[in-house]
Amino acid sequence: MAKLGVNIDHVATIRQARGGAEPDPVAAAAIAELAGADGITIHLREDRRHIQDRDLKLLRQTVKTKLNLEMAATDEMLAIAVAVKPDMCTLVPEKRQELTTEGGLDVRVHAQSIEKAIARLQDGGIHVSLFIDPDTDQIKTANRIGADYIEIHTGSFAEASDWKSEEQELIKIENSVKLATKLGLGVNAGHGLNYTNIKKVAALGGIEEFNIGHSIISRAVLVGLDRAVRDMVDLIKYA
Ligand code: PXP
Repeated sequence: MAKLGVNIDHVATIRQARGGAEPDPVAAAAIAELAGADGITIHLREDRRHIQDRDLKLLRQTVKTKLNLEMAATDEMLAIAVAVKPDMCTLVPEKRQELTTEGGLDVRVHAQSIEKAIARLQDGGIHVSLFIDPDTDQIKTANRIGADYIEIHTGSFAEASDWKSEEQELIKIENSVKLATKLGLGVNAGHGLNYTNIKKVAALGGIEEFNIGHSIISRAVLVGLDRAVRDMVDLIKYA
């Protein structure tokens, strides 16, 4: 059965809105784990707009499942990751102005620097995943430069405007899962997944873990985090 990694960045976004201490993402992580999450995902951004260094350090000490750190492959972030040692680092592209991660990492264009970043993290005992579009060349390059996992960017599928383009995007994801699996890469997926569209992607099979943030935290505001996580765990389980 596929696993669920809960991205708790938005809990920190609410805290940062007032610059105070609550809600605390560390408490949110504990509740998500108690509700059945298989992992906790956070994105430490260069501008620290939501998750702070303090959160990363405390979560490293308190997360009992798996801590996945999303980050840009910069010297600053690589040094932090090697010092804190999350279980996995997912390398993502990062632009200051974007609302959220807008596209996959172009591992073909940045192959050399990403290859070095992967080696540095793996030397530090950290598994490395690359957040890429469901594209044959990107997957082959990710494999060539030594990634352990890919995370398939599901944004184009989630934002498809009609059933036909949704179907086409789903086929791209399915083919990407097959290719990556054949090459020996682990496969995760995420971005834009919600309580409706998760069913089709989870039914494909072959995806080890889904990283989901916005839809879970949005539902949590209305029904509570425990219930929101349990609902998503069930959807993935019975897809
Ligand atoms: N995976 C990656 C690599 C991401 O950057 C994000 C967004 O931070 C997510 C998953 C979660 O996306 P969403 O918040 O749309 O569920």
